[in-house]
Amino acid sequence: MTSSDMNYLTIALPKGKLFEPAAKLLAALGYTAEGLSENSRKLVIANEARKVKFIITKTADLPTYVEYGAADIGIIGKDVLVEEEKDVYELLDLKFGLCRMVVAVPEVLRQEKLSDYAQLRVATKYPHTAARFFHDAGIQLEIVKLNGSIELAPIVGLAEIIVDLVETGRTLKENNLAEVARIQQSTARFIANRVSFKMKFDRISRLTEELRALVESEVGK
Ligand code: PRP
Repeated sequence: MTSSDMNYLTIALPKGKLFEPAAKLLAALGYTAEGLSENSRKLVIANEARKVKFIITKTADLPTYVEYGAADIGIIGKDVLVEEEKDVYELLDLKFGLCRMVVAVPEVLRQEKLSDYAQLRVATKYPHTAARFFHDAGIQLEIVKLNGSIELAPIVGLAEIIVDLVETGRTLKENNLAEVARIQQSTARFIANRVSFKMKFDRISRLTEELRALVESEVGK
């Protein structure tokens, strides 16, 4: 960490569904910057007056940026944290971005028991989480890692089943997929780099407490 970095708090925000609520939450506490948007072409967006820098990353990469200290803090889904297994502090459950990770199959392939899906192929963006789930359930199958549009896989015969996130349930419904097991629930988390947390303790702990108060007031509404 350079000494100039010590003057700034670098915040990582993920592209995708969590970007907007995360940016809004931070902005409510004065942590924002001119031109901060998910589609910004600028990779680092600074607010010189507040001594804050924002970086916008691919969702799955965000924990890596925080683990290596390229960002001091960040906001990311619990699902990604569990999948990526990076060494970061999880400081706060921000309670937004609620979704669940499920096993789903085309309605026509629906079986009675989960073990009936043994030996089949499962497509997912979350191979570690899926492997752990099926291993714990004692079910052997093949996992195929994809990077998005997972629901397409069973439609075109790339896999028979999927492990994916469900928020409203619309995507499953529109693709005639049925949820057959629930793996875990997820919400957005506030995370910090372990060294930054010590070196910038006052700023990060103050922000954590401000976020905690804001989240509690939102949840109480
Ligand atoms: C997520 C998830 C599902 C969808 C679920 O995908 O992977 O496809 O949202 O939401 P719903 O239950 O409200 O329909 P996302 O849009 O993040 O993009 P992806 O397909 O590239 O993963």
